[in-house]
Amino acid sequence: MGEQPASSPFLAACRRQPVPRTPVWFMRQAGRYMPEYRAARAQQSILEICHRPKLVAQISLQPIERLGVDAAIVFADILLPFEPLGLGLSYAAEGGPKIWRPIRRAADVEKLAPVDPAIDLGYVLEGVRQTRLALDERFPGTPLIGFAGSPFTLASYAIEGGTSRTFTATKQFMYTHPEAWHDLMQSLATLAGRFLTLQARAGADALQLFDSWVGCLGPDDYREFVLPYSRHAITEASTAGVPVIHFGTGTASLLEAMAEAGGDVIGVDWRIPLDQAWARVGDRAIQGNLDPAVLLAPKEEIVRRVREVLRRAGGRPGHIFNLGHGIMPGTPVENVKLVVDLVRGAA
Ligand code: CP3
Repeated sequence: MGEQPASSPFLAACRRQPVPRTPVWFMRQAGRYMPEYRAARAQQSILEICHRPKLVAQISLQPIERLGVDAAIVFADILLPFEPLGLGLSYAAEGGPKIWRPIRRAADVEKLAPVDPAIDLGYVLEGVRQTRLALDERFPGTPLIGFAGSPFTLASYAIEGGTSRTFTATKQFMYTHPEAWHDLMQSLATLAGRFLTLQARAGADALQLFDSWVGCLGPDDYREFVLPYSRHAITEASTAGVPVIHFGTGTASLLEAMAEAGGDVIGVDWRIPLDQAWARVGDRAIQGNLDPAVLLAPKEEIVRRVREVLRRAGGRPGHIFNLGHGIMPGTPVENVKLVVDLVRGAA
């Protein structure tokens, strides 16, 4: 682990220790809304960036330089394991990721290549190392977040072949081939757990499991088809001794079950008020939950909505301010900066 930033408000909040001010960072804080990122992206694809650890470090630091957020997140993508798994991965300019050989039949699960993240995703781990080094040099004490996709969200991309709104193919597969589903989830849970542990050893001070699309399931399906595998990944990741954030969207009906699956911090979106979510989650830290679309609103509205999230958190230890999902392309950088200043009490 890197220089343990003892005074980091982010890490203290993860452990529900009192902090002088609420820590703030953003999902997708390095991305297309930022001119520095677009300049780097003009030269190379997102996959090329991810494969160049020095560039990963540079891009991961952009939001620290520009916004002064309380944590960096390593620049990578949850779908990177699809390359070594043999699923084939590229990112289209429009329409998001494309998986070239998606899982269509039960037999496809057995054809997945065995993946050792220490080797097959070694370039991501090197990106973590380089980012930790760059932070130690330029922003000492700033914690670094490593991450992985949850078994469910990864499975949904592997089966759908790309982004989906309804997850019909995923559910059809889950209900039709439960054995193959459980095998797939077990493999992905082992992969995610090990990948997260290795990122902590490479210098990540906290870990986030992204279960971005799990909100498409009802609570019974979540418990039967997802919970054991998220729990496996989180339990394994927790052995690294750093806090784990368990994030999902549309999870208003799943929060108790998600908390049962694990995580020191539960990440929630805007579809449920923060205080209600926190009551349901119980004695964990909570991360969220401003609607990213609010960053496209007039300043007065941003101010009002940020204060409302803070009011619902009520200054209780264990709140990490974030959006309920990633920053959207086209978001004005000054609006993101305004949120940071508001949370700091400076605006
Ligand atoms: O700053 C950061 O948050 C770190 C980098 C990061 C990326 N992806 C880079 C990226 C992180 C944490 C992710 C996670 C990720 N990737 C998730 C979970 C979070 C979420 O948003 O739900 C998911 C579902 C993915 C899969 C993915 N990657 C999609 C759906 C897309 C296309 C959608 C889009 O925004 O275009 C990507 C591509 C991607 N990953 C981009 C970035 C900055 C945009 C691509 C680009 O630069 O062209």
